[in-house]
Amino acid sequence: MTLYAATSNNNKIKEFNDVLSELGLSVENASHIWKLPEVIEDGKTFEDNAQKKALEIAAYTGRNIFAEDSGLEVFSLNAEPGIYSARYGGENLSDVDKNDLILKKLGKNPNRSARYVCVLAFATPHGIIDTTEGEVRGSIAREPAGKNGFGYDPIFIPDGYQKTFGELDKSIKNSISHRTCAIHNACSKNLFDTRKWK
Ligand code: IMP
Repeated sequence: MTLYAATSNNNKIKEFNDVLSELGLSVENASHIWKLPEVIEDGKTFEDNAQKKALEIAAYTGRNIFAEDSGLEVFSLNAEPGIYSARYGGENLSDVDKNDLILKKLGKNPNRSARYVCVLAFATPHGIIDTTEGEVRGSIAREPAGKNGFGYDPIFIPDGYQKTFGELDKSIKNSISHRTCAIHNACSKNLFDTRKWK
């Protein structure tokens, strides 16, 4: 049975399918099939928002859905932008502007530790089946670098590397990212195989 992803972010769908295809799995973008209603992300945590998206879209489409909520936490900025990653600094700021805002707020601060977090929520039209989480730890670069990936990737240097996700090959991001960790956690619970949902 097909599992539909509730996100309008094609970068995320691509990363999901890059990782899932290696496991012989795939997901379909629900927004390519239905005109989905906007889900207001007013939860207090990544998990709240992922569950809300999955539940509302599963109820709307009548299908099994998985949704994700993800973002960047910069520890010396009180874990900003966190759940506000997509609209940090205002709804209309570009990715370049959001990256610049973080670099400006950090200034020369030597404590540049950060992490990306991803929560996946799986739902039927009747309720939540399960959620999984993944993270990748790293630090914020002094300046943006690279054009790979999306969002905050040009300023995020994963631990163990000297380059940003924007510079590193996508195969490296896909082997260690928060999204990949959350996917692997979901796979170990068979959540991408809806026949095994209880
Ligand atoms: P949402 O999950 O749709 O609310 O948006 C999450 C936001 O977090 C994205 O718009 C990006 O700004 C950021 N984000 C999440 N994952 C990544 C990633 O893998 N790379 C870069 N930015 C990310």
